[in-house]
Amino acid sequence: MSEHVRIYEVGPRDGLQNEIPIIPTARKIELIDLLSRAGFEKIEATSFVSPKWVPQLADALDVMRGIIRRPGTGYAVLTPNMNGFELAQAAGADEVAVFASASEGFSRKNINCSIAESLVRFEPLLAAAGKAGIRVRGYVSCVVACPYDGEVAPEAVRDIALALREMGCYEISLGDTIGAGRPATVSRMLKAVLAGIPATELAGHFHDTENTALDNVAVSLDMGLRTFDSAVGGLGGCPYAPGAKGNLSTSALLDFLEPRGFETGINRAALQAAECYVAAITSKRIERRER
Ligand code: HMG
Ligand code: MG
Repeated sequence: MSEHVRIYEVGPRDGLQNEIPIIPTARKIELIDLLSRAGFEKIEATSFVSPKWVPQLADALDVMRGIIRRPGTGYAVLTPNMNGFELAQAAGADEVAVFASASEGFSRKNINCSIAESLVRFEPLLAAAGKAGIRVRGYVSCVVACPYDGEVAPEAVRDIALALREMGCYEISLGDTIGAGRPATVSRMLKAVLAGIPATELAGHFHDTENTALDNVAVSLDMGLRTFDSAVGGLGGCPYAPGAKGNLSTSALLDFLEPRGFETGINRAALQAAECYVAAITSKRIERRER
C-alpha cells in the first residue's frame, strides 16, 4: 500500500504576500476555491498581520468571508499576535500559525521583535486558541541560513522548535526561507530537531531559490517527514527576506512523490486549473521540470 504524504498548500498566503501589484480580493478567492477543488487537507489562505507591513494581504477578512469552504479542507491563516488571532477567530479560521525565526536578524526585520519577545507574544495566543479549540501550527524560519545573519546553527533551530512545541503547537514547519538548504545542511538541521520532536510533528517548508527544494524533500522523507508545504505554480517569497524566491511548486512536489509510491489525495486536473489561473493573474511563468 502506498504511504500518504500531506501537502500543505501555502500559495494563497506565502505566494500572494509577495505579489506586486497586489492581487484583487476576488481573484484570491477564486484561486482558493480552485485549490479547494483539488482536495487539499490544508490551505493557508491569508494572514492577519499588520496591513502596513504586508499590504498585499490587507483584505484577509474579505478573503475568508468570500471563499467557499470545502468539507475536508482546513483553512489556515498566519497570526503574529493576539490582535491577529482575534481577527482570525472572527473570520472563522480553522487553524492559525505563529511564526518565529531561528535567527535574530530575520525575527527583527519580519516581526519587529527578538526571538524571545516573539515567544512571549505567542503565549497568550496559544492559550486563547487552546480555549477556543483552534489548532496552532508553528513556523520556524531561516532553518539553514538567514538573509541578515548568515548561517544558522542546527541547535538554534532545535531550541525554537522545542519552545513552540512546548507552548502547544501541534506541528512545526521548518522554513528554509531563502532556499539556502542543501541535503547536507538540511539533514544536519533535521538530525538536531528530530532529537527532540518526532517526525510526525514536523513539516518541511522549502523555498526553491536554486532548484534544491526537491533534494531537500528527498532527504526529509528519508528522515521520516511526511508533511510538506508547497505553493501552486511555485508562487512565493517573503517581503522581509531579500533573495527568497518561490516556494517549492505543488505540482513539482506531486511529480516527485507519486513515482516514489507516495499518495497525496490531490486531484491533478483541479490543481492544473489552479496553476493556469495563477499564471493568468500573476507575473509567474509556470515552469515544468523533468526529474
Ligand atoms: P509592529 O509595528 O511592531 O506592531 O509590528 P504594533 O503592535 O506596534 O502595531 C503596528 C500597527 O499594526 C498598529 O496599527 C496595529 O494596530 C497594527 P496603527 O495603530 O499603527 O494603525 N497591527 C495589526 N493589524 C492587523 N493585524 C494584526 C496587527 N498587529 C498589529 N495582527 C507585527 C509587529 C508583528 C504586527 C508586524 O511586524 C507584522 O505584521 N509582521 C508580519 C510580517 C509578515 O507577515 N511576514 C511574512 C510572513 S513570514 C514568512 O513568510 C516565512 C514563512 O513562510 C516560513 C518561511 O518561509 O521560513 C512563514
Ligand atoms: Mg515561506
